[in-house]
Amino acid sequence: MRTIEISQKLRKELQKELKPDRFDHTLGVAYTAANMAFVHGADVEKALIAGMLHDCAKCMSHDEQIKVCEKNKIDISDVERRNHSLLHAKVGMYLARTKYDIYDTEVLNAIRWHTTGREDMSLLEKIVYIADFIEPNRKPLEGMDVIRKEAFTDIDKCLAHILHDSVIYLKTIGKECDEATMDAYEYYKKFYT
Ligand SMILES: [Fe+2]
Ligand SMILES: [Fe+2]
Repeated sequence: MRTIEISQKLRKELQKELKPDRFDHTLGVAYTAANMAFVHGADVEKALIAGMLHDCAKCMSHDEQIKVCEKNKIDISDVERRNHSLLHAKVGMYLARTKYDIYDTEVLNAIRWHTTGREDMSLLEKIVYIADFIEPNRKPLEGMDVIRKEAFTDIDKCLAHILHDSVIYLKTIGKECDEATMDAYEYYKKFYT
């Protein structure tokens, strides 16, 4: 299948699954990820597919997500049980494979790690993580203009910048940080000084 056909097929399917705002965000992430792939020499088709599917489980309730995990022997951490915004990454990876027939490990990992990040991320993982944060429909947070520029000029600095701001933000609102996010923050902080 050609890129345009895969993209059209996924777009149709996801429009049915996602709420309108989430669908707009999804397209924003897919095209931002594709543009970042142009600049950084990553696989554009993989970036597009991973961007399209990164939030494919986001419109399921937390209980439904837990059920999918329990039924399919996917581990759920204590943090994932408490913080309802995390689990859709694991469930999304599972659905990408079983419902959308995506078997590429790089794409699946980019979906899996798009919410928390992790240490030593692949280029595609970085691209989807960052595209999720900077896509045009995101409400512009402080420093967004700088982060958006870094996304295309210095990807590790951009990643470290977002991780830094996310860790500070989670501390400010008193939400616990996933272990993978802390590991990623520690691993990349040398790029953001
Ligand atoms: Fe997400
Ligand atoms: Fe997202």
